[in-house]
Amino acid sequence: MATFPVINLEKLNGPERSRTMDKINDACENWGFFQVLNHGIPHDFLDTVERLTKEHYKKCMEQRFKELVASKALEGLQAEVTDMDWESTFFIRHLPQSNVTEIPDLTDEYRNMMKEFAVKLENLAEELLDLLCENLGLEKGYLKKAFNGSKGPTFGTKVSNYPPCPTPDKIKGLRAHTDAGGIILLFQDPIVGGLQILKNGEWVDVPPMRHSFVINLGDQLEVISNGRYRSVEHRVMTQTQGSRMSIASFYNPGSDAIIYPAPAVVENEAEEKKEWYPKFVFEDYMKLYAGMKFQAKEPRFEAMKATATA
Ligand SMILES: [Fe+2]
Repeated sequence: MATFPVINLEKLNGPERSRTMDKINDACENWGFFQVLNHGIPHDFLDTVERLTKEHYKKCMEQRFKELVASKALEGLQAEVTDMDWESTFFIRHLPQSNVTEIPDLTDEYRNMMKEFAVKLENLAEELLDLLCENLGLEKGYLKKAFNGSKGPTFGTKVSNYPPCPTPDKIKGLRAHTDAGGIILLFQDPIVGGLQILKNGEWVDVPPMRHSFVINLGDQLEVISNGRYRSVEHRVMTQTQGSRMSIASFYNPGSDAIIYPAPAVVENEAEEKKEWYPKFVFEDYMKLYAGMKFQAKEPRFEAMKATATA
């Protein structure tokens, strides 16, 4: 089996640029996921984010997880639990308006670090979107503009921990789903794995790799690329040993952005591929997604199509 794609972004500045762009394109077309190294975000900065996140979990989240999630999940456990996840999370919104000052229990150091983290990741997300534009034959900045709406993109970070689980065969860390939004940048635990993606009907591990980011594409990039790129199903397995840290940042369209297949991509398509994807307001898609996250994406696209026709 082919190995999970790892892209060294530094190679974009040298003689291997075109080979690297091809690798990115192949990953977007065939995996929906890839891992990036030498992304320009300093390693010692990432080490601090990891340390502060783990300290915060121990101090402020662990007890709550045990009381609210673990006790409920393990209560009278016989069959597999399918209506909840074995995870401890909180969410920080950065754009269009940051709520980082309103999140309780963060130390000043952690709060400031996460503000800085968001700025760095926003830049990296926009750089990656431009690489995708280049590969798709879209003008530079097209995707950023497509996501813009009237207030700019929506950008936020979900900070998660997946504690050890005594019954890993009975509950998932996170049930299988595709991501609804644009491009997702995941800073994951360097040691404890668990993330898997569905490739050709088989679950493939995403290997932990220190100081890398795992990048994946959400449903909106599938629509804009008219299906040339795909959002891919993924899930998190629980394990009996070790706590897994997972910091996922979502660079998504603004709520009133209108999403539709890019005309420059569609014009090169065969006639029968031209009508596959709907045109809709991003916010409407998210309302639908809220109730259908753990279901296949095709019915979501169909439902958006039906609303557009109605
Ligand atoms: Fe996800």
